[in-house]
Amino acid sequence: MGKKGREIVGSSIDEIVGGLKVAYCNELTAFHCYWYTSLYMQGIGSLTIAGKFKDSAMEELEHAGMIAERLNQLAAIAKFAGRLG
Ligand SMILES: [Fe+2]
Repeated sequence: MGKKGREIVGSSIDEIVGGLKVAYCNELTAFHCYWYTSLYMQGIGSLTIAGKFKDSAMEELEHAGMIAERLNQLAAIAKFAGRLG
């Protein structure tokens, strides 16, 4: 499937794969931010708002999954080298 996907995309494959890799990392970063915030919220209303952040986190994870699927169709792999400091 990857070979056919690359044929369809043609000469702009590197640019498209590069953009998809950036988008994949951005989605995972957004997932992390929403998820982490949902876990450590404090104060009035945090219980209700934390659920909204968890929902947003899962939406971002779904977006990352769609991009990963597209990368797979193009025979490319997104390596996530995020570091926690
Ligand atoms: Fe997203």
